[in-house]
Amino acid sequence: MSEAHARRVQAQFGGSAAAYVASAGHAAGEDLDRLLAWGAARRRDRVLDLATGGGHTALLFGGIARRVVALDLTEPMLRAAREHVRTRAAANVVFVAGDASSLPFTDGSFDVVTCRTAAHHFADVAAAVRQIQRVLRPGGALLLQDILGHDDSEASAFMSEVERRRDPSHVRSYRAAEWKAFLRAAGLTVMEDVVIRKIREWDEWTGRMRMTPEARSQLEAFVRGAPERCRAAFDFKLTAERVESFNDRQILLRAERD
Ligand SMILES: C[S@@+](CC[C@H](N)C(=O)[O-])C[C@H]1O[C@@H](n2cnc3c(N)ncnc32)[C@H](O)[C@@H]1O
Repeated sequence: MSEAHARRVQAQFGGSAAAYVASAGHAAGEDLDRLLAWGAARRRDRVLDLATGGGHTALLFGGIARRVVALDLTEPMLRAAREHVRTRAAANVVFVAGDASSLPFTDGSFDVVTCRTAAHHFADVAAAVRQIQRVLRPGGALLLQDILGHDDSEASAFMSEVERRRDPSHVRSYRAAEWKAFLRAAGLTVMEDVVIRKIREWDEWTGRMRMTPEARSQLEAFVRGAPERCRAAFDFKLTAERVESFNDRQILLRAERD
């Protein structure tokens, strides 16, 4: 990953660590329930939570695994996640600084890798997937969740622009076929895939990334000025005064290392 992109990620998340720990949408949800159910049905002594953010996925997996390693690129995020997990008394979760595209672990050292709401920030997602394959034991599982890229190219370009204006470290949300190709190329076989919807409350979503009032009103003008079909693709709810919410889709994938 380039130094410039790493700095962008760290600048975005370093100042938002407390907001990610407090985020109700990260602390719970249908996606987390599904990942946990997938994990509970497998051997799960050693779990890696990749790009742990506020530590919500690591914390829940700490309840069903012997040991969880929670890795993140952003030091202040790791500190906030460590504190969050410590106050919930999960002593089997340890924290490590690192980059998804060069994981500091030996081959085959995990039974399960989780990666939730993070891969759209990775500069080179194919490299990250190869690293996940390398650190999983044969038969080990990747449990992945991320924002799903839209199949319509105009709607996809519109939403990418919305995402990047809110968070310049957003790289790309991939379509289901793209995810399957990344995983297949790395030697991971998709066993299950599910798509779910998530409502994003605009004030919370823009506030969590500390948008200035000017940047936020420019983004709202961009949304209002976009073609109706692009807004409809994400079910944007607008009143005369404000943007209320939109709806995005998330992909969940369970894949096994060959
Ligand atoms: C939205 S948060 C993750 C949420 C978390 N997984 C959860 O379940 O609540 C995204 C995280 O990805 C991390 N991140 C982004 N790029 C990364 C990379 N290349 N390697 C490791 N972590 C990265 C950021 O620092 C940030 O903490």
